[in-house]
Amino acid sequence: MNNSEVLIDKAIHGLSKKIRLLDCEDLLISDYNKRYLKEYKDNLDFFMPLYKTLLKKVIQNLQKPISESSFVDYGGGCGILTFLAVELGFKRVIYNDIYEVSTEDVKVISSAIGLKVDDFITGDIEQFINTIKSNNIKIDHICSFDVLEHIYNLEDWFKKIKEIQRPFSLCFMTSANSSNPYINYKLKKIHRQAEFMGSKRKKGWKERDSNLPFLKIREKIISENFKNINTEKINLLAKNTRGLFGEDILQEVAYQLKTSDFRSIEKHPTNTCDPLTGNWAEHIIDLKPLKNSIKDINTTVKFTNSFYSYSNNKILNFPKKIINFGMQVLGKENLFLSPSYTLEIQFKDK
Ligand SMILES: C[S@@+](CC[C@H](N)C(=O)[O-])C[C@H]1O[C@@H](n2cnc3c(N)ncnc32)[C@H](O)[C@@H]1O
Repeated sequence: MNNSEVLIDKAIHGLSKKIRLLDCEDLLISDYNKRYLKEYKDNLDFFMPLYKTLLKKVIQNLQKPISESSFVDYGGGCGILTFLAVELGFKRVIYNDIYEVSTEDVKVISSAIGLKVDDFITGDIEQFINTIKSNNIKIDHICSFDVLEHIYNLEDWFKKIKEIQRPFSLCFMTSANSSNPYINYKLKKIHRQAEFMGSKRKKGWKERDSNLPFLKIREKIISENFKNINTEKINLLAKNTRGLFGEDILQEVAYQLKTSDFRSIEKHPTNTCDPLTGNWAEHIIDLKPLKNSIKDINTTVKFTNSFYSYSNNKILNFPKKIINFGMQVLGKENLFLSPSYTLEIQFKDK
């Protein structure tokens, strides 16, 4: 074990101990984050190795020691990665999420477990950049776990993140690895469920998310905003605008009606996003064009795989060992067998 692994293990041990002592039901937080936090609490042995893999990559990408670096947890949810960064001893830890309920909940969790978070920023990339700039905050690393596959306009997101002061690095890890055929199959199933069936609202439902089928929501948006078109055309336009949200739906519909150029604008056959928020249902991202849109002479981009972590289950550990060996042979940037992928970027000094 190298030095960074020892540090990460210590941080995981420290946080796990605090989370085990938490009574999630007793906290004054939303049912949504109670559910989320409990899921982590009940499955620490599953989740912590994933965060360990991510944090190892973070440390490899840092240009300065941890104690001199600032760390952003982008889309931090109930804050586990944020708290691990605090435990690791980052100089400044910044929590962000688009969902204000989560930002407020993480403040409560932070005081309940006694881990101080330096800054909280609610909002998408615009609010994030504005806060960073107006408060003159120097960022050294931006990290996220299972967020990349939800961001509405990735090209725009990465264009905007380039506005902050260099150098800094970024590691975004996601389990929505469509290069792995089994995961790809599961992701498409999730898309079809969201697009055509919707989901039941149960206790702990995230109030920001729509539960009706996305196709039906787009039909409703179109019929309410374009009064003189028949049902057949509404249905066609609702199909064609899969992958769009809000104003973008209205603009595309207006364009297709004006030009009679009726075509589906999302190239992928099943990808879909929440028409009311833009939150993708596990976006299957075309990685090559994304990489090309981000990289430039001062910006290096790579997508790397992760090994399966071992548990006490010896039967499961055996195939994992074989797959991990296969991944070792194929190299770090081969995603075919991997349970996840990480987007690693170095934004170098100009
Ligand atoms: C699947 S959850 C992962 C939460 C957390 N990173 C974790 O490890 O548990 C995705 C999170 O990203 C947030 N999110 C989605 N899109 C976002 C965006 N554009 N900007 C900031 N946060 C976003 C969601 O509100 C949610 O908390």
